[in-house]
Amino acid sequence: MNALIVLFLLSLFSLSTLINGLSLNFDIVHRDSPLSPFHNSSISLSELARNARLRSLSRSNRRQLLQTDMLPPIIVQGEGEYLMRIYVGSPPVESWAIADTGSDLIWVQCLPCNKCYPQDASIFNPLKSSTYQVVSCNSQPCSFFPKNYSACGISSQCIYVYGYADNSTTFGDLGKDMFNFGGNGNGSLLVFGCGHNNTGTFSRKGSGLVGLGAGPLSLVSQLGSQIDHKFSYCLVPYFSNYTGKLKMGQEADISASSNGVVSTPYTLGGGQNTNYMLTLEGVSIGNNTVETSGVNKREGNALIDSGATFFLMETSFYNKTEALIKNSIGVQEVKNVSNGFNLCYSNNDTKTIMNNFPDFVVHYKGGADVHLKPEHNIFFPQDDLICLAIFPVDHDSSGLGFDFDIGNIPQINFQVEYDLGAKQISFAPANCSNY
Ligand SMILES: *[C@@H]1O[C@H](CO)[C@@H](O)[C@H](O)[C@H]1NC(C)=O
Ligand SMILES: *[C@@H]1O[C@H](CO)[C@@H](O)[C@H](O)[C@H]1NC(C)=O
Ligand SMILES: *[C@@H]1O[C@H](CO)[C@@H](O)[C@H](O)[C@H]1NC(C)=O
Ligand SMILES: *[C@@H]1O[C@H](CO)[C@@H](O)[C@H](O)[C@H]1NC(C)=O
Ligand SMILES: *[C@@H]1O[C@H](CO)[C@@H](O)[C@H](O)[C@H]1NC(C)=O
Ligand SMILES: *[C@@H]1O[C@H](CO)[C@@H](O)[C@H](O)[C@H]1NC(C)=O
Ligand SMILES: *[C@@H]1O[C@H](CO)[C@@H](O)[C@H](O)[C@H]1NC(C)=O
Ligand SMILES: *[C@@H]1O[C@H](CO)[C@@H](O)[C@H](O)[C@H]1NC(C)=O
Ligand SMILES: *[C@@H]1O[C@H](CO)[C@@H](O)[C@H](O)[C@H]1NC(C)=O
Ligand SMILES: *[C@@H]1O[C@H](CO)[C@@H](O)[C@H](O)[C@H]1NC(C)=O
Ligand SMILES: *[C@@H]1O[C@H](CO)[C@@H](O)[C@H](O)[C@H]1NC(C)=O
Repeated sequence: MNALIVLFLLSLFSLSTLINGLSLNFDIVHRDSPLSPFHNSSISLSELARNARLRSLSRSNRRQLLQTDMLPPIIVQGEGEYLMRIYVGSPPVESWAIADTGSDLIWVQCLPCNKCYPQDASIFNPLKSSTYQVVSCNSQPCSFFPKNYSACGISSQCIYVYGYADNSTTFGDLGKDMFNFGGNGNGSLLVFGCGHNNTGTFSRKGSGLVGLGAGPLSLVSQLGSQIDHKFSYCLVPYFSNYTGKLKMGQEADISASSNGVVSTPYTLGGGQNTNYMLTLEGVSIGNNTVETSGVNKREGNALIDSGATFFLMETSFYNKTEALIKNSIGVQEVKNVSNGFNLCYSNNDTKTIMNNFPDFVVHYKGGADVHLKPEHNIFFPQDDLICLAIFPVDHDSSGLGFDFDIGNIPQINFQVEYDLGAKQISFAPANCSNY
């Protein structure tokens, strides 16, 4: 989600229909950004940081649960960080939705509510939309849900339940309606969940979720050739006053827009082949390289995840990486901090740390070297501390999960393009505030 931050209240996006298909371009905002509708100015930065840390950890813990408890395959990573504005129905109703590369289904809360969490905007009423259609339980979209996760309701209508790894669920009717990303024009007719029972951790997350995964129900799969099977995003830092961008179609292509574009193939992971898995081969810290080896050396070991926060590394790999970083920084660490971070320093040493922070290069398969900056590796969880924004995570032995999780902080100020045709992801450094 991972997916993302800034100026929502102004005119946010432009939507243009090109001869070759749709070209969509919309703003994306981190939920804690001053521009987010969910911004709470009475929560301090350190509290926000702590919450982000907790969300990130609960995601990884949940994934492990997912493996050991044999939860159904529909269960996917849920927690979202970046929000996008969408308009549903005719006339269009504004909704804020999580942008999540870790799941597929698009859904919004719908009237009548058996159980809806509170949302600021009015809840979508399918009866008031002249373009809303029900989807039949004998239709293909209904069959995209795993067994027992869709069924026939009244008048052969498709009813669905979709669960996330943190036990959040949405339950309702599968419908079809116009989705408009700019609030004008006619938009696209998309299949989505009209959720009448929505439970779990969705509060503060807007009125729904837009799945950007690789499965057939995701936004990117449904728009398919209309957007040339491509999308890209550019995320600004969490508390920035600028907006990031999510682009689809021709505009999503980053190959021409920037120097230093690198590309790496992905494989699909997760029970529904939703997740984009990269192959991380090593990281270089200054002149030293830590290579994957043993358990963590495998194809598709790294989940790229807009819905997660930090960079997680398998523990043995993390230990080597941390030791090299510590060695380069060379100042006394603050031991035994209670904020959950593994390596912290006094804020008094910020200048030295920034000066000494080593070059940090992530090596992906196919020679794709992504150069990270201190902003990708450092977090200020409280006023007096500066901490490493990388965490160890236990090796996931089942093969369904990941040994590396590339959350959204290591993706900030990169254009990241997903090309589902070429099955590759490309990175290019950028200033997303200008993107
Ligand atoms: C904002 O955060 C404060 C402190 O946690 C809390 O008391 C308050 O209810 C929150 N406001 C909203 C609108 O959530
Ligand atoms: C939906 O919500 C209603 C009212 O809370 C509840 O009775 C029903 O069991 C829920 N259905 C599901 C599938 O969760
Ligand atoms: C689906 O539901 C049926 C009947 O309730 C049950 O026997 C079956 O085990 C379920 N299948 C799965 C995959 O959960
Ligand atoms: C999800 O629900 C299952 C079954 O009720 C429970 O065992 C598990 O601990 C829950 N997971 C989370 C993250 O709450
Ligand atoms: C929207 O649809 C109407 C009716 O089909 C059509 O006349 C109009 O040109 C369309 N507008 C756009 C912006 O595509
Ligand atoms: C964002 O704008 C608000 C209000 O204009 C200002 O108080 C705040 O310092 C700005 N934040 C950043 C990170 O520039
Ligand atoms: C890295 O290697 C180069 C060439 O051997 C050397 O000049 C440089 O000082 C080394 N840098 C560090 C940080 O060790
Ligand atoms: C990693 O480092 C921690 C803390 O020093 C240590 O407890 C743990 O055993 C190490 N794990 C591996 C796999 O190297
Ligand atoms: C770390 O903090 C805990 C609780 O504050 C304390 O019990 C423990 O002795 C401390 N450990 C070290 C090595 O200072
Ligand atoms: C940081 O500097 C302040 C002011 O000089 C000092 O009071 C504080 O103890 C220092 N903190 C640490 C952890 O060294
Ligand atoms: C990125 O762009 C913003 C807005 O134009 C500008 O304020 C900022 O200084 C730029 N950042 C860098 C690192 O160039």
